Amino acid sequence: MNRFLSLFVLACSMLLPNMRSQAQENTGSRTLIVYYSWGGNTRSLVQQIQSLCKVDVLEVLPEQSYPTDYKQCVDQAKEEIRNNYRPALSTPLPNLQNYDVILVASPNWWGTIAPPMATLLEGLKFDGKVVIPVITHGGGGIQQCEIDIKKLCPGASFREALCLRGSQNMGKHIKKIERWAKELGL
Ligand SMILES: Cc1cc2nc3c(=O)[nH]c(=O)nc-3n(C[C@H](O)[C@H](O)[C@H](O)COP(=O)(O)O)c2cc1C
Repeated sequence: MNRFLSLFVLACSMLLPNMRSQAQENTGSRTLIVYYSWGGNTRSLVQQIQSLCKVDVLEVLPEQSYPTDYKQCVDQAKEEIRNNYRPALSTPLPNLQNYDVILVASPNWWGTIAPPMATLLEGLKFDGKVVIPVITHGGGGIQQCEIDIKKLCPGASFREALCLRGSQNMGKHIKKIERWAKELGL
């Protein structure tokens, strides 16, 4: 019995790292949302989408978190974006074989997507996939975010982006999100 238990524990410990490299929430859907959120606005939007559509969700996390102080974060992001820096991620790359549609959700940082999202997109192959940008911003709108996602996802086709001013409660946009999701057949 003890031998059986040890074998079982060993098998689990070998399987777990592989399970972790899958999307964090696996619903069996062919649609995956990958998102990065520093302050929670983009996460709130992703939660609204999740409440309407059957989607898997993967949060992208950099190995080194950004400063919690807003100004320090803004300054660091400015430098990184200016230098095209790609921060290392603690999130394992998802296996896109399981998905047809990938929603790429990021805050607008200095007119483009947040560097951790750029790292993720650069590490993936998008041939034959449908990519849909999902952006939150602080008043500047989508700026270069959509264009830069397109550059980072060669081989993909694109559908209408969702772009909303960020806040902690993106539920107030639920009607708009619902219309957008319905039009896209999500
Ligand atoms: C580093 C940094 C840079 C930003 N740059 C812009 C910008 O260029 N244009 C804009 O409209 N908003 C900008 N914002 C505001 C964010 O896009 C907005 O607050 C967003 O909803 C934050 O999403 P999050 O809470 O998921 O991180 C910036 C915020 C940060 C932290």
